[in-house]
Amino acid sequence: MSAIESVLQEKRVFPPQAKASAGAAISGMEAYKALVAEAESDYEGFWARIAREMLSWHKPFSKVLDESKAPFYTWFEDGELNASYNCLDRHVEAGRGNDNAIIFEADDGTVTNVTYQDLLDRVSRLANALKKRGVKKGDRVVIYLPMSVEGVVAMQACVRIGATHSVVFGGFSSKSLNERLVDVGAVALITADEQMRGGKALPLKSIADDALAAGGCEKVKDVIVYQRTGGKVAWTEGRDLWLHEIVENESNQCEPEWVSAEHPLFILYTSGSTGKPKGVQHSTAGTLLWAAQTMKWTFDMKPGDIFWCTADIGWITGHSYIAYGPLAIGATQVVFEGVPTFPHAGRFWEMIDRHKVTIFYTAPTAIRSLIKASEADAKVHPKSFDLSTLRILGTVGEPINPEAWMWYHENVGRGQCPIVDTWWQTETGGHMITPLPGATPLVPGSCTLPLPGIMAAVVDETGQDVPNGQGGILVVKRPWPSMLRNVWGDPKRYQTSYFPEELGGKLYLAGDGAVRDKETGYFTIMGRIDDVLNVSGHRLGTMEIESALVSNPMVAEAAVVGRPDDTTGEAVVAFVVLKRARPEGDEAKQIATELRNWVGKEIGPIAKPKDIRFGENLPKTRSGKIMRRLLRSLAKGEEITQDVSTLENPAILDQLGEAR
Ligand code: PRX
Repeated sequence: MSAIESVLQEKRVFPPQAKASAGAAISGMEAYKALVAEAESDYEGFWARIAREMLSWHKPFSKVLDESKAPFYTWFEDGELNASYNCLDRHVEAGRGNDNAIIFEADDGTVTNVTYQDLLDRVSRLANALKKRGVKKGDRVVIYLPMSVEGVVAMQACVRIGATHSVVFGGFSSKSLNERLVDVGAVALITADEQMRGGKALPLKSIADDALAAGGCEKVKDVIVYQRTGGKVAWTEGRDLWLHEIVENESNQCEPEWVSAEHPLFILYTSGSTGKPKGVQHSTAGTLLWAAQTMKWTFDMKPGDIFWCTADIGWITGHSYIAYGPLAIGATQVVFEGVPTFPHAGRFWEMIDRHKVTIFYTAPTAIRSLIKASEADAKVHPKSFDLSTLRILGTVGEPINPEAWMWYHENVGRGQCPIVDTWWQTETGGHMITPLPGATPLVPGSCTLPLPGIMAAVVDETGQDVPNGQGGILVVKRPWPSMLRNVWGDPKRYQTSYFPEELGGKLYLAGDGAVRDKETGYFTIMGRIDDVLNVSGHRLGTMEIESALVSNPMVAEAAVVGRPDDTTGEAVVAFVVLKRARPEGDEAKQIATELRNWVGKEIGPIAKPKDIRFGENLPKTRSGKIMRRLLRSLAKGEEITQDVSTLENPAILDQLGEAR
């Protein structure tokens, strides 16, 4: 509770500065309240208005929201459009083809500018090449690529021809990639020979080969390989194709495939509290609409702005705020291949300086680690760079502690840039609760108020509203256009995970705890209420890590919990019972390293436990249930104050508490 209490006690308020409000899309609380009122008085009319304003429709919609099959909602269903047309062609047609769409900076610092016309040409060529290989509307294509222009091109090329992409983060293992290829039923895979991160070449193609060899994905006919490093790769004739070769002779003209507003734009896997990751299915119009609208409202993007979102395209933030939102509104954005600490920990600040970035969007974890680095070395401190172009800062992915907020505000924002602390999720498609840079008085650590049209609330276990000041469960009371439409192939899971009967079956359950301030009604997020961990802004299911551990032949039983961590927000702690006697000393260290690497191979390095403790058993009730709350206390090194009378084996607590 200590972190939460420090957030709740936060009393500093930062009113919007005059220059942030002047000319802002939402220029003050009156303007915000007017939009909220518009949405409340005519919900469908509000969404229809912005859908007409923000998107170019091939065929206009006549219906707005259909709730007849709730909770399977549809929006603008009889309208037709193409996401790639909205992101590219319409800007070129408006005479903006020579504007920069992407300023790409490679790991080694090489910079490449890509105009809207270039991007459209590249997307069209790949779209034609995919069509030639037989990829068609409704097919699923998995993308396993590094941060690259090609990554964005691949996503846009898929949606241009009506194929649905599923991007798998380049840090996931072959097993994770295999599971996603199988679950989504991919017909093609787009990958790279290697990826460059922090001066090192890391394999991708060989991992993809292993994933395909693991079976179940025989539907994958083509493996398209972007040559990033020229490193040696194994080649399967008849299946593997070089990207540069297949696009070489393709035309740069490709008529977009017009699809229904509800056509699946993408499927992105994310961890839940049970079972394997869920394929979160997003619709074309709703998700594109909200990505574009929030670029205007949350980031106040205007012509001349240079936007930089540091997320990876493998996560939802990289979908909505790299591949779609910035392009949909015709913005110029920086796309970065590398890592914040290479060749030095001032890389972000140096790049903001070099590219004259005006709006910068990153994760609290990155901020916290860069605070440490700049305290240790003044040369990499933000103050050693010219950051005077910045006008808005953003954060996403996890709660930001007030200390990190203040540091970001003072040192990166020079005390002049509003910080938009955006709360949202893979499932929500875009921002949900966030300050508006020209309107909302900021309170460090609070994501403040819902965007207009988003009916967020805090309720108790029965779905009843709780009074402000009292913590509860964060829900959204009405469907909104960018919400997920389904869990791919598992409608039952969609219903039970997100619209549980306990809450009445109608409220969208976010999976987070929250509290609203007594006076302002501001929301503060208190973290997940389910068995999902948030490590460096990455979502990890404890069950997934437990399954990975028990699949190791040495392991009899494992339980995983989270522990607060200064840098990563949360850290993974695993309690493990081996089939052999409990190891001690060097043997324990060595087995812990082996198991850590095992999890890295099973899921990906992000899931490696920071701390592994061995016991002869786990704390269980007499009915055999693992008492996770005790494990959480042990992980934190807290004294056990809970009632342990139902525990079958209380002595185990001492063993697990000591065993570090
Ligand atoms: O717990 C919340 C946390 O991240 C979860 C969503 O993770 P994911 O689907 O991977 O999407 C991350 C990027 C949108 C949420 O359930 N979270 C996200 N943003 C915030 C946050 N927690 C606190 N404050 C935020 N701004």
